Amino acid sequence: MKTYYLTTPIYYLNGEPHLGHTYCTVAADALARYKKARGYDVKFLTGADEHGQKVERAAQEAGLTPQDFCDGLVATYKEVWALLNIEYDYFQRTTSPAHKAAVKNIFKKLYDQGDIYKGSYEGLYCTPCETFFTEQQVKDAGGVCSTCGRGVDKISEECYFFRLGKYQAALEAHMEANPEFIMPASRRNEMINNFLKPGLTDLCVSRTSFSWGVEVDFDPGHVMYVWVDALPNYATALGFMSDDDADYQKYWPADVHLVGKEITRFHTIIWPCIMLALGEPLPKQIYGHGWLQIEGQKLGKSLGNAIDPRPLAAEFGVDALRYLLLREFAFGPDGNLTRSAFINRYNADLANDLGNLLSRTVGMVEKYFGGTLPVCGPAPSPHDADLAALATTMLTKAENHFDKLHFSEALAETWRVISRANKYIDENAPWVLAKDPARHAELANVLYCLAETLRIVAIAIAPVMPATPDIIRAQLNITDPAFTTWESGKHFGLLPREVRVTKGEGAFPRREKA
Ligand code: ME8
Repeated sequence: MKTYYLTTPIYYLNGEPHLGHTYCTVAADALARYKKARGYDVKFLTGADEHGQKVERAAQEAGLTPQDFCDGLVATYKEVWALLNIEYDYFQRTTSPAHKAAVKNIFKKLYDQGDIYKGSYEGLYCTPCETFFTEQQVKDAGGVCSTCGRGVDKISEECYFFRLGKYQAALEAHMEANPEFIMPASRRNEMINNFLKPGLTDLCVSRTSFSWGVEVDFDPGHVMYVWVDALPNYATALGFMSDDDADYQKYWPADVHLVGKEITRFHTIIWPCIMLALGEPLPKQIYGHGWLQIEGQKLGKSLGNAIDPRPLAAEFGVDALRYLLLREFAFGPDGNLTRSAFINRYNADLANDLGNLLSRTVGMVEKYFGGTLPVCGPAPSPHDADLAALATTMLTKAENHFDKLHFSEALAETWRVISRANKYIDENAPWVLAKDPARHAELANVLYCLAETLRIVAIAIAPVMPATPDIIRAQLNITDPAFTTWESGKHFGLLPREVRVTKGEGAFPRREKA
């Protein structure tokens, strides 16, 4: 079986999960579910980045030890991911003994082979972003951190350095040979022009001014720079550098690391150079997605405008929230979020298009046939072929989009079919057919084609909306798994003609504008 390993960033535990984290995690979950449906042996990692000055400060403010603070937040993260139906395989914690032991092995190996050496650092540091900057970089950004726009601290410390510069040529050659290593292409160009072209300088990889980190065991007083502890989590979760690396052997290299654009640089430069130094394969792709913004500003914990996904899930429903996040804008660029756009799309796509298609279909089977379609002789309508052609080619088109992480486009393909089916109702006017007993076979055929379209739609939306297919299937009494596989969605007419319906609650009640 082909394997597929994908990851989200491990999120800093300086606050509760917000809609930005939800966005990336829902995308990863949709991709994981899609790959599973396509027959891959999938592993999906998410987790928590627990060390560093920023988390230590947040714990102090909360009056807790960093470990207690992190334990509480991990529980919240897990609760929120469970609520949102996120099916991860690994929840990585950087305070876990296994991870700490593995990164110590990595650090020691790099030190022993001369890729880490001791020196002293004098420069600038942004604690909210846990990032070192040169004077020039800060100057170019107008005297502030180029990521978050806040002031930076001057630091002067004894520290260990990693010979990042030594691996520049090998990294460039890798990028050249693998054009899809950094996606989308705009991010690749940004990384090459802004970071590689000016030249890589050696990276400070330990700190001495605080203690909440993985100790450098051969030099007490030093803890590892949080990114050097965090990035290897993607490999340590699989057992890399431990006694049992069976998962690492099986699933590494990762097929894709999903990350936000602000941390693409760490994943496409520092992480690959560490793996090059260790002589290990590089991840196949790093996908730097855009930011959710509110009035042009990124939302986030550090900026104090975080949005909690839980009230939104309660208001719209989990599947609707997942749909809205992935449908409203493309995954690569930034997207502006407004409440009215959310409500409009909910009402248009979910309440009207999908919700009505289901309730009208089920309602008409009940009204005209008492809940069970009769088996009649052939009585096709002139619009069947068009509907069937669109429905049976939808999944192949969606595959093309899902494979490129174009979630919105994949969903748009499905909504084209849903709209076509709603138009098919109007074209065939079942209420007219119902008036003429001689046309009951035609009427049964029309309702059958609608049920069959809904069966295929349920397959297509499952990666993004994992609970809704069950609602559709319950109302159409589809219980045979043979009619729910991805491949079965490429054939029209599989469902036995005698469709029995069970009316249920409206799947997506309309929301009033607020
Ligand atoms: O950076 N829009 O953790 P973090 C979209 N611990 N996505 C957003 C977002 C927004 N407004 N805000 C956050 C860290 N995200 C490190 C990662 S990995 C080895 C270490 C998402 O808690 C996005 O994926 O700051 C972003 O990259 C990530 O959350 C940052 O989470």
